[in-house]
Amino acid sequence: MRRKYICGNWKMNKTSSEARKFAKDLNNSEFKNVDVLIAPSFVTLESLRKELKSEIEIAAQNISQYENGAYTGEVSAEMLKDIDVNSVIIGHSERREIFKESNEIVNEKVKRAISEGLKVILCLGESEEIREKGKEVEFVRDELLASLKDIKTLENITIAYEPIWAIGTGKTCNSIDAEEMCKEIRNTLIEEYTEEADSTRILYGGSVKPENAVEILSKENIDGVLVGGASLKSEDFIEIIKAGENL
Ligand code: PGA
Repeated sequence: MRRKYICGNWKMNKTSSEARKFAKDLNNSEFKNVDVLIAPSFVTLESLRKELKSEIEIAAQNISQYENGAYTGEVSAEMLKDIDVNSVIIGHSERREIFKESNEIVNEKVKRAISEGLKVILCLGESEEIREKGKEVEFVRDELLASLKDIKTLENITIAYEPIWAIGTGKTCNSIDAEEMCKEIRNTLIEEYTEEADSTRILYGGSVKPENAVEILSKENIDGVLVGGASLKSEDFIEIIKAGENL
């Protein structure tokens, strides 16, 4: 049985002072039987780690593929670990599309994070154009295999399927299509990594909100959600956590 994983990606939102209020709300709410993660901006990581109760995981939204050195503006795995941040989101479609991160770069980042002992949430997902052509399964499979090239074990890896056309648009992928793609992802992982893939968590992301969380989270191959917009309001995010807890 895979425990549900409710992850909030704040993107470039919330100052550290705004995050403090959110931390208070989250600390005051009780939940068990569910894992919870928040990914704030780099500058808020350290203070949020100190303010949030320890059972809530904190993740960075990105990481450098390089170990250290002359890479202006970049943040290394070692810097994250030093402030007690042990997880990172890699390959979000905004990184891929706006900041031109190719599968090769994403793969370098995954390898760097895993070799430094970080847990990774690897994001994948097709554009509307690819879905209209009916090529989404092939596309996501290629993205998955290229991003995981040379990765020998899935132990510290979670996959997030996030169709680009459903991110921040209010258009949720219907839960049947989302389940179908998450199942395809699991089958591909089983081909590559055998039964180890049975315990890998696969998340859905894209316009998840309190109103649709139960339906999405009840699907067999959807082990959690990666939430953008609805993770910014503590009441909404707590409602989504409760949806995961009660399944
Ligand atoms: P959204 O974003 O929930 O605002 O659609 C999801 C994501 O980008 O992770």
